[in-house]
Amino acid sequence: VDVARQAAQSAGSLDALRTALDAYDHCELRLGARNLVFADGVPGARVMILGEAPGRDEDREGRPFVGRAGQLLDKMLAAIGLSRTAEDVSRAVYITNVLPWRPPQNRDPKPEEIAMMLPFLQKHVALAKPDVLVLMGNISCQAALGQRGILKLRGHWSEAFGLPALPMTHPAYLLRQPHAKREAWADLLSLSARLGQGR
Ligand code: URA
Repeated sequence: VDVARQAAQSAGSLDALRTALDAYDHCELRLGARNLVFADGVPGARVMILGEAPGRDEDREGRPFVGRAGQLLDKMLAAIGLSRTAEDVSRAVYITNVLPWRPPQNRDPKPEEIAMMLPFLQKHVALAKPDVLVLMGNISCQAALGQRGILKLRGHWSEAFGLPALPMTHPAYLLRQPHAKREAWADLLSLSARLGQGR
C-alpha cells in the first residue's frame, strides 16, 4: 500500500496516473488481466461514476462498462440527460472502477486488493474533480465509504473523498433483479435533482 500511495501521489494528471497504474506491479490481478481499464467518459464531467472492476468485455476492450451492465448504465444515464460522450461537462459523466484489472473469473475483489488500490482511486477522484460521485454497488461503497450493505445505503446521499456521493444498486444487479429498477429510477431522479441545484 505504501508503494501504491507513493506512485499515486506523484501523479499530477490523469495521464500520469494511468501511466503510474500501468507501471504498478504489486497487484496480482494484473497478471490475469489482458488490459488496464482506466476510465471512460469526459474528464472534468460533473458526475463521476465508480463501478467495481472490469468484466470480460471491459478487459478485452480496455474500457469500463462496455458489456451488458454498461449498456444498461448508459440507458439509465440517458434517462436523465447524461452521457459519457456529451461535450457539455454538465451533461457528461466520467466513469471508472475501484479495480483497474479484471479479477479471475470475475470473482469478488478481496479486501486487500481494494485497500491496495485505494490510493490510486483517491487520486483519480482528486484529479477528475467531479461535483458528485455515484457509487455503483457494494464494492464501490466498500472502497469509498468503508461500508457494505448497498440495499440499505442506496438512495441516501453520503460523503466520499470529500464529495457528495450517492450509492446506487449496480446495473449488473438490476439485470438480475429487474424489480429493483424502480428504486434505481428514484435514485437517478435524486441525482438529477442534485445536479439541477448546482447548475
Ligand atoms: N461492472 C463494473 O463494475 N464495472 C465495469 O466496468 C463493468 C461491469
